[in-house]
Amino acid sequence: MHIPRSSAVSNPRSVERLVTGQATQDGAGVKLTRVLTQPLQHRLDPFLMLDAFGSDQPGDYIAGFPDHPHRGFETVTYMIAGRMRHRDSAGHEGLLTNGGVQWMTAGRGVIHSEMPEQEEGVMEGFQLWLNLPAQRKMIPAWYRDIPAPEIPVAQVDGVRVHVIAGQALGVTGAMQREVTEPLYLDIHLRPGASFSQALPESHNAFVYVYRGALDIGGSPVPAQRMAILTNTAGSDGVVLQAGELPTRALLIAGRPLKEPIAQYGPFVMNTRAELMQAVEDFQAGRLA
Ligand code: FE2
Repeated sequence: MHIPRSSAVSNPRSVERLVTGQATQDGAGVKLTRVLTQPLQHRLDPFLMLDAFGSDQPGDYIAGFPDHPHRGFETVTYMIAGRMRHRDSAGHEGLLTNGGVQWMTAGRGVIHSEMPEQEEGVMEGFQLWLNLPAQRKMIPAWYRDIPAPEIPVAQVDGVRVHVIAGQALGVTGAMQREVTEPLYLDIHLRPGASFSQALPESHNAFVYVYRGALDIGGSPVPAQRMAILTNTAGSDGVVLQAGELPTRALLIAGRPLKEPIAQYGPFVMNTRAELMQAVEDFQAGRLA
């Protein structure tokens, strides 16, 4: 059996800074940690937000996210544990369960709900917001439910990689996107294992450790921290080294759009006038 090796990285990136998420509430009162916040949207362009949620207390998640609109970007919801039902104004419906992903392109607009379909137990996962280029912000809404068995897994000594988007270890992920070229990996490392991933130097990249701990280029990265990676000139990737604990981390990267970002809540456009139009369209029932 051929076991692929991690791609060789000779000039790895290092950690520019560590970020601790902010505890907050969203939806009808779901407790979550906002890891990628609005002040980091330019530094981590094309990514607009990363929320981490994880609790075994139903009171933290049971209220869910009742009907709300989006316009101008994509949401990627990754469920580690739990069950979440989504419904939208176009009549689509889906159930997100352990290890599954929902990739939704809000485009010109959608109104949807995201509600827990469990009354007890652990609910854990992430929601990432990925920006759309200006010329695609008003495309029709679209979504895809990707159950866990449809997410390709790449393996190398002591490392399992769930390739949600982009490519790793020669394995093509479940989703590919032009323009922003997102890479979204969920990497599980045994104690002491290491993993290398090629990254174009111009792509913005970050790592969020959600179990165990990593060393990246000599910098320790503990659990529940986001490490923003440097865009070092001449760098060709990143090397993640697990410590003494089994470790799990998200590695997310993409090509920056370098366009103006105007956000008002669930609408992300390029100008204030476009935001006002989004609010007007929502109030007039034109997002449904
Ligand atoms: Fe939403």
